[in-house]
Amino acid sequence: MTSPLIDPFARAITYLRVSVTDRCDFRCVYCMSENMTFLPKKDLLTLEELDRMCTTFVRLGVEKLRITGGEPLVRRDIMTFFNAMTRHLDSGALKELTLTTNGSQLARFADQLYTAGVRRVNVSLDTLDEAKFAKVTRWGRLPQVLNGIDAAQKAGLRVKINAVALKGFNEEELPRITEWCAERDMDLTWIEVMPMGDIGNEDRLDQYWSLKDVRRSYQEHYTVTDLAERTGGPARYVRLEETGQKIGFITPLSHNFCESCNRVRLTCTGELYMCLGQEDMADLRRPLRESPDSEAPLEAAIRAAIDRKPKGHDFDYSRQRADGQMPRHMSHTGG
Ligand code: GTP
Ligand code: 5AD
Ligand code: SF4
Repeated sequence: MTSPLIDPFARAITYLRVSVTDRCDFRCVYCMSENMTFLPKKDLLTLEELDRMCTTFVRLGVEKLRITGGEPLVRRDIMTFFNAMTRHLDSGALKELTLTTNGSQLARFADQLYTAGVRRVNVSLDTLDEAKFAKVTRWGRLPQVLNGIDAAQKAGLRVKINAVALKGFNEEELPRITEWCAERDMDLTWIEVMPMGDIGNEDRLDQYWSLKDVRRSYQEHYTVTDLAERTGGPARYVRLEETGQKIGFITPLSHNFCESCNRVRLTCTGELYMCLGQEDMADLRRPLRESPDSEAPLEAAIRAAIDRKPKGHDFDYSRQRADGQMPRHMSHTGG
């Protein structure tokens, strides 16, 4: 039997996040600059290579695959890849196939995703105000995303909303977003803004709205009960007694959750990042391409990489460089 992936801190690696493209049809201010140069297509893993990579990880014990980007649904023929992963759900090796999306293409893909075995999607949505939505995404259209969310729910997908907490931007919208999600039976998770990507004119420090304050804001409006449960993701949850709703908080800066980390990230070019907040990575594309007929070199490279997984991240706003740019884009690493 193949032994599972266990890192030096005895954490089992069962969750792989895969960025299938660095491209996106939006340019969220905390994620991308307005004028992005995207990777040449030849550098991307092909759909067949993505299949080989994921299949190897599943064989090594990965039970949860989350497809991300950029925007995963703008990758050409992406359904071919989702449909290929269905066999791992059917065999029982994979417990969950899911994606994180901006929702813009969901109206088109929701039914096909359900057919492929996807049961849950996380949709990024920071505001319900059309003008503010256009501002934060630079040119995204809110109605298109709302249609996508409707289509996903009609297709039978469970939707979780991810909202990045941005000071002075969606602070006062908190009750409205919360109630909007409650009416639609959707979970909501707030994410602290992380120091990645181009900052441009935006100052990430000015944008930082601690989730401790978000929590306080909930306590002003609702009766808040802490929940002990974890879903295998980094979020911590509370329940709002008035709505019965579960609200998640992802707090990489004010409270790190590295001790229970179960995940690694594969970029669209085949680099494996052992931690979102660390620069160390392993090139998996090379062993994959150099050995078209055997996965042994790939497996050895994966095991060597997991052996180097660090204990935790070191996000720190003081690390922002003078030119305001952090070394890596979320869209490359896959959030
Ligand atoms: P669930 O399966 O619903 O628990 O999803 P998830 O929270 O694992 O995935 P999702 O893509 O919704 O994650 C939301 C955001 O949380 C990501 O885009 C990141 O911004 C952040 N995040 C997820 N995992 C990590 C992590 O390991 N470290 C840090 N610092 N942030 C993370
Ligand atoms: N900080 C926090 N969250 C971010 N996301 C993208 N960039 C950042 C950042 N700098 C989030 C998106 C989406 C998920 C894929 O990552 O809003 O929910
Ligand atoms: Fe695109 Fe998501 Fe980045 Fe926004 S946060 S630009 S939707 S990848």
